[in-house]
Amino acid sequence: MSQTKTEILSLLMEGNYLSGTRLAKLGVSRTAVWKNIQQLKEDGYNITAVTNKGYKLVEPSNRINESLLAGTVEKSGLLDQLIYKKTIDSTQNHAFRILDQYDGNIVIVSGEQSQGRGRFKREWLSPDETGLYMSLVLRPAISNQNMIVFNLFISLAISEAIREAAGLKSGIKWPNDILINDKKVCGFLTEVISADNIVETIVCGIGININPSAVTEALGTATTITGELKGSEFDMNHFIDVLFKKIEYYYDKFLSESFSSIKDDWLDQAIIFNRDLTITTVKEKLRGKALDITDEGYLVILDGDHNIHKVISADIEI
Ligand code: BTN
Repeated sequence: MSQTKTEILSLLMEGNYLSGTRLAKLGVSRTAVWKNIQQLKEDGYNITAVTNKGYKLVEPSNRINESLLAGTVEKSGLLDQLIYKKTIDSTQNHAFRILDQYDGNIVIVSGEQSQGRGRFKREWLSPDETGLYMSLVLRPAISNQNMIVFNLFISLAISEAIREAAGLKSGIKWPNDILINDKKVCGFLTEVISADNIVETIVCGIGININPSAVTEALGTATTITGELKGSEFDMNHFIDVLFKKIEYYYDKFLSESFSSIKDDWLDQAIIFNRDLTITTVKEKLRGKALDITDEGYLVILDGDHNIHKVISADIEI
């Protein structure tokens, strides 16, 4: 997105009428301002022009668009590169295709995936205008051991973003899901490239259900942000902005602090305690209750025979 378009967008996002004269103070002609406004409209922003008052952003956009993302990524202290594709096979697959082409941290965002994939080789159905699909490419240079708690930081970032930007009471289902009212609103997938015990690259793919679709309805176990809001306004621009800030904040913490620094907040939002769980690990299937999570990121399970298990990764049914 051009610098002028970004500046116009941020002025409009302040919420007031912007006269042509004020916009022209950006140092560009009125015609250029008009052209940029037309482009923003094409991007999906609802902008009206009122005589003697100027332009106004009428309502929050409910769609992902490149202008919004570019503005958000430009402000980010974490992300260096945005790749936006209206439609793609999978942001995760694309991340692996391009990660050697850029230095620094990258985010790939799409509004539709034809081959979205989830954990355990499951399909992640991603129809157009229903979700936010993104993959983060991060270069942490940390030991494999320190990587174990990454998902704990990211899950808290996503859950907090949903709570703050949408006002919904989301909860964390360890290790990789975010739920609202016990239904899945987000799943994420973390893959790494490491050498000599050092994690060089993290590719974290995040899928968030935004608008109801035949897919989420049919699943029965899934929900969406706007579905849960039941007609209350949802501002996608604001949500993405908050989500990226939370990810930046918690990724910084992940690099510099231990899990214990966020453990209380994580436990406040975790929804796996005090209930019967079915836990499937690569080795076994257990039934039991979660007792605790260790500072190293292991979930402590008490099974029906009073045996303690420490689990590092699993699929959990509640
Ligand atoms: C899961 O719950 O199993 C994880 C789902 C992860 C889905 C996201 S959508 C964006 C990124 N691209 C993919 O193909 N998968 C992840």
